[in-house]
Amino acid sequence: MRLSSLFLALVVLPLAACQKPAPTEAAKPAEHNKTVHEEPMISSHDVNSYAEPEKVVIKHLALDLGVDFDKKVLSGSATLDLDWKDPDARSVALDTRDLDIAKIEGFDGSTWQDLKFEVAPKDPIFGSKLSIAVPSQLQQVRITYSSRPEASGLQWLTPAMTMGKKTPFMFSQSQAIHARSWVPLQDTPGVRFTYEAHITTPKDVMALMSADNDPKAPRDGDYSFKMPQAIPSYLMAIAAGDLVFAPISERAGVWAEPAMAPKAAKEFESTEKMIVTAERLYGAYRWGRYDILVLPPSFPFGGMENPRLTFATPTVIVGDQSLVSIIAHELAHSWSGNLVTNSSWKDIWLNEGFTSYVENRIVEDLFGKDQALMENVISQDGLKADMKDIAPADQVLTLPPLVNRDPDEGLTQVAYIKGQWFLMFLEERYGRETFDAFLRKWFDEHAFTSLDSSAFERFMEKELFSKNPGKTTHDEIHAWMHGSGIPAFAVAAKSTRFDAVDELRGHWLAGHAKPANMDTSKWTTQEWVRFIEGMPETLSQEQLAELDAAYKFTGTQNGEIAQRWYPLTVRSGYTTARPAIADFLSRIGRRKLIMPTYAALAQTPDGLAFAQGVFEKARPGYHPITTGSVEQTLAEGKAKR
Ligand code: BES
Ligand code: ZN
Repeated sequence: MRLSSLFLALVVLPLAACQKPAPTEAAKPAEHNKTVHEEPMISSHDVNSYAEPEKVVIKHLALDLGVDFDKKVLSGSATLDLDWKDPDARSVALDTRDLDIAKIEGFDGSTWQDLKFEVAPKDPIFGSKLSIAVPSQLQQVRITYSSRPEASGLQWLTPAMTMGKKTPFMFSQSQAIHARSWVPLQDTPGVRFTYEAHITTPKDVMALMSADNDPKAPRDGDYSFKMPQAIPSYLMAIAAGDLVFAPISERAGVWAEPAMAPKAAKEFESTEKMIVTAERLYGAYRWGRYDILVLPPSFPFGGMENPRLTFATPTVIVGDQSLVSIIAHELAHSWSGNLVTNSSWKDIWLNEGFTSYVENRIVEDLFGKDQALMENVISQDGLKADMKDIAPADQVLTLPPLVNRDPDEGLTQVAYIKGQWFLMFLEERYGRETFDAFLRKWFDEHAFTSLDSSAFERFMEKELFSKNPGKTTHDEIHAWMHGSGIPAFAVAAKSTRFDAVDELRGHWLAGHAKPANMDTSKWTTQEWVRFIEGMPETLSQEQLAELDAAYKFTGTQNGEIAQRWYPLTVRSGYTTARPAIADFLSRIGRRKLIMPTYAALAQTPDGLAFAQGVFEKARPGYHPITTGSVEQTLAEGKAKR
C-alpha cells in the first residue's frame, strides 16, 4: 500500500488497510467464546467500548495516583461515582487495557466493602472488559490498580530523552481509546464526567493535567487538580517532567521544559487573539484558562485538545509562526469536540471536520485570506491524494459503526477535510452571517453533550434548510454526508500565491531558471511545501543537489518540509540524504511527519534494510502509537519482498 505524504495526513493508514474481518465465533480465540459478556460489540451503542452506559454511568472520577519513573507505572486508586439508569442492573462494566487490579471496593452510603470482579482476556484492540459485581446499586466503586510500563496511552522518557537531560518525563495520549490503559473507566465519548486528582511525583517534577493547572503551583511533588466541567474519557490527560510556565496573556500561557518555554511563548504569542476571535464567532470560551504544553519531539501527534491544556508537538515551533494553525485547531476543539462531542468514533467528523473549519476561520481572521487559502489548498490536495487509498465505504462523513475496528487507525482526512469542505460549502450557500449564527447555536444548544451525525442532520433541517429554503438541495447534502469521494460540485480552494510558486517551479524544471534568480525570500512554510509537492515523482541527482545547495532541504529543521523532501530523495535514489534522514527519523516521533519517509524507504529492499536499521535505534525513543505504525509499514514492505 502506498502511503501518502500529504500535508494534513494525520493518520497515514487508511481505514481499509486496518480493518480486521469481523471475527466469526469460530475464528475468535477460544477464551473469547466463554461468555457473551466478554463480547465487546453488544449492548452499548459505542462498539469500541465494553461499558454499558444504559445501565449505569460514571458521574465523577477521583484519582489518587503516584508517578513512579523507575518502574514506569502509575499506581493508586480510581473512585467512580455512579449514576444508575437501569433499576435491575447489578454489575458495572468498565474498559481497561494492561491494568493490574489489586482490589475493588464499593460504598453504599455508609460502609466500604470488597467486591468481586473479573478481568476478561485481552482483546488486541479493545483491551479487557472489567466486570464488577455489586450487591446493590452502590454509590461508588474504588479500584486499586497500577498501569503497566507498556501502557498504550502513556510514554515514559528517561532524562537522556529530554532537552534538559536531568529529569524524566511522562505524558498521556488518551484519544481515541487509550485512557483505559491508565484509568479503569467507561472509555467512550458518549459518557461525560467531572474529575479530581491527587498526583504525587518525585519532588523536582511538575505534574499537569487537563484540569485547573495553576501557573504558580509550588513544585513539591504533591499536586491536586479539579476538572469541574464534565468531559469524556478521551480528554483525560496527565504529564509530568521538568516543566515551567511562560505567560502569553492573563488567561493563556505555555508549559515547557525550561530551554523551550520562552521560544514557545513567542511562537504562540497570537493565542490570546485566537481565543478572542473564536469567542466572537462562537460564544464564550467556557473552560477557564487555555494553556499549551509543549511536549518532547516524540509526541506522536501535532496537537491534542486536552481541555485547558492543549498538548503540542515542538515541531511546529519553526520561528516564523507559520505553523501555529495547529494551536487554532486545538483551541477550536474547545467548541467543536470538547463542548459538543461525537458520541462514538464513527462520527468523528463532528469533532475534526468542524474543528478544521473553525481553525481555518481563526487563521483567516488573524493571518489573512491568503494564508487561510494556502492552508486549504494543501489540505484539499492531501485529501484528494489520500482518497485513492481509502475504500469507498470509508469516504463518507457518516461512517457505519466501527465494529471490530481500531478507531485510531480509522481516522482519515475524510473526517477532517471533507468535513471542513462540507461546512465551507454550507457557509458559501447560506452566507457567512447566517452560517456563523447557525454554528454558534449548534454549540450553544448542545454544550456538554455527545451526539451523532443524525442529530446534526436534524438540526440542519430545522435551523438551516427550513428557515432558508432553496439554497441547497437534498441531493447535494446527501452527496456530502453519505456519498463517497468529493462531490463533483465542490468548489476547490485556489491560491494566487501558489500560482506564483507553480510558475517558478515550472521554470526551474524546464531549465529556464536557476535558484539564484528565483525570488523565494518571502516564502513561508506553505510555499515551500507547495514547491516540493508539485515536483515530479522523481528528480535527477543533479536537480536534487542543486536544490539542496540553494535551499538546504536536507537537514532542514522544518518537519513539514522534511516530510515531503525526504520521500522525494528516497524515490529518486539520492542516498546523500540518508544520514539526515536517519537523524530526522530518530529525533522526531510525530507520525504524520515521519511515516511518509518510512513508507518510501519500505518500497525497495535496500531502503527497507536502511529503515529497519534506523527504526531499531530510534525505537526506544518512540511512543507506543508511533512504534505500532512504523512496525506495520515495515512489515508491509517486507511482505512485498
Ligand atoms: N484530536 C486530534 C488528535 C487525535 C485524533 C489523536 C484522533 C488521536 C486520535 C487533534 O486535534 C488533531 O487533529 N491534531 C492534528 C493537528 C491538526 C492541525 C490537524 C495532528 O496531530 O496532526
Ligand atoms: Zn483535531
